[in-house]
Amino acid sequence: QTHENFLQCLSFHSSNTSSISKLVHTPNDPSYLSRLNYSIQNPRFSSPFMPKPFVIVTPFHAYHVQAAVNCSKKLGLQLRVRSGGHDYEGLSYLSEFPFVVIDLINLRSINVDVKNSTAWIEAGATIGEVYYRIAEKSPNLGFPAGICPTVGAGGHFSGGGYGTMLRKYGLAADNIIDAVLVDVEGKILDRQSMGEDLFWAIRGGGGASYGVVLSWKIRLVPVPSTVTVFTVDRNLTQNATDLVHRWQYIADKFHEDLFVRLVLQAVSVERKKTIQVSFNSLFLGDADRLIPLMQKSFPQLGLVRENCLEMSWIESVLYFNGFPSGQSLEVLLDRVPQNRLSFKAKSDFVKEPIPENGLEGIWKRLYEEEVGRAILIMSPYGGKMSEISESESPFPHRAGNICLIQYLIYWEEEGNVTESQKHINWIRRLYTDMTPYVSKNPRAAYLNYRDLDIGTNNNKGTTSYARASIWGTKYFKNNFNRLVHVKTMVDPTNFFKNQQSIPPFSSAW
Ligand code: FDA
Repeated sequence: QTHENFLQCLSFHSSNTSSISKLVHTPNDPSYLSRLNYSIQNPRFSSPFMPKPFVIVTPFHAYHVQAAVNCSKKLGLQLRVRSGGHDYEGLSYLSEFPFVVIDLINLRSINVDVKNSTAWIEAGATIGEVYYRIAEKSPNLGFPAGICPTVGAGGHFSGGGYGTMLRKYGLAADNIIDAVLVDVEGKILDRQSMGEDLFWAIRGGGGASYGVVLSWKIRLVPVPSTVTVFTVDRNLTQNATDLVHRWQYIADKFHEDLFVRLVLQAVSVERKKTIQVSFNSLFLGDADRLIPLMQKSFPQLGLVRENCLEMSWIESVLYFNGFPSGQSLEVLLDRVPQNRLSFKAKSDFVKEPIPENGLEGIWKRLYEEEVGRAILIMSPYGGKMSEISESESPFPHRAGNICLIQYLIYWEEEGNVTESQKHINWIRRLYTDMTPYVSKNPRAAYLNYRDLDIGTNNNKGTTSYARASIWGTKYFKNNFNRLVHVKTMVDPTNFFKNQQSIPPFSSAW
């Protein structure tokens, strides 16, 4: 295929041809690489050796997206859709086959309707932009999505999306009330015209298997004028093992206004390595209410008034991202990720408290890596998460989970394959160690922490039902079957495919 063919096709499919050249970027375009790389969150996938798209399309209008879908299909090109570029395995901008990237950077308007507590958000908006625009209109509305502001609404909401308010309000996907999507025929559908099955599938099943999400209508949630945050650090000489062990018995049972997550890592204290656990919390209320709650449920932590900071909800968003107090809120509008180290991540769900000797095994592994490279984040469930049934959305990890663990390993990418492999092997060993302590049959995982180690389609993106169900049941449990049914209905020829896309029944071989 030549780029001219693609351009010609786009002009043919667009009513307004004058703008076409502004939205198509070929490798001959001097800005091509910077356009491709600007939102690649994981430098592991931006090296010159990685496959590059045939063209990048940056639509300004829905009809540009329709044309790009139609033309990729017509010319036999694969399609990748990118909103925030945070995919852990780079699936929004990588393919082994000739492919087009639709990058939604220009489709990111946000309209907040305070009166009805709703907002329409284009998929290319980041969650930082969403939070900023909500707070600009009202100090008493918020949205329960992720922590990192540069994450895109397109991928994040369609894969679930959780943050500090999940125990009170559930996931971002649980708070979507309408959506607009371009389907495989290039048609624009909203909730009513796509029907409840497809609308169900794109709220947790991953948008990329079903079409291009253009926008979401979300339900905003009430937040109090004052919230309280704290971060209390404890190391091994300060009883950290006991505290983590204890936390697992109570973190999912706390009052739903209270979210206390753990960040675990090896640190150096007076030149000696130890494990540090940070108890990192958002409370939807003031400190006067929080302290007695903590004293009752978790006196062992010894939380005192001096540990607590009161602020507005939007300031707590900055706090969770490590910005200093007094930082201007405009930083939420910055789309460029703050830190760009290569990383590999994995996830697990904990259903029974991990015993102390299990925790000690984790500490040993953490000591094997240099200080600061390896991090575990344990996010508590319970509250609203337990009230939503496993089949209400494709995201099935609800009642019965104490917490979600995310394992992360970071390194500097200098094109050194052996070095990268060393760290990837380390996280795989840790994951093996954790087998006895986490969910089983299937060993569950979180789609938004995408991990190709748990299974893939073939690299063409086609697969048998049996092969896809290996990774599919880990992310979706029994909902995998319904996702396959929906896929079979809306994209029977499997145009929207990648290494972890839902297959239709017909592609079985
Ligand atoms: P990206 O654009 O890479 O897309 C991810 C996937 O969705 C790809 O398969 C892509 O094709 C598809 N997609 C994107 N836009 C689409 C659209 N418009 N229509 C159809 N398909 C589309 N998660 C979480 O729950 N809570 C958190 O706090 C965080 N924090 C966090 C921090 C950092 C630094 C990273 C790198 C990631 C997270 N995440 C997270 C994980 C995050 O939710 C996950 O990576 C999302 O899929 C990212 O969505 P993006 O749109 O940014 O990614």
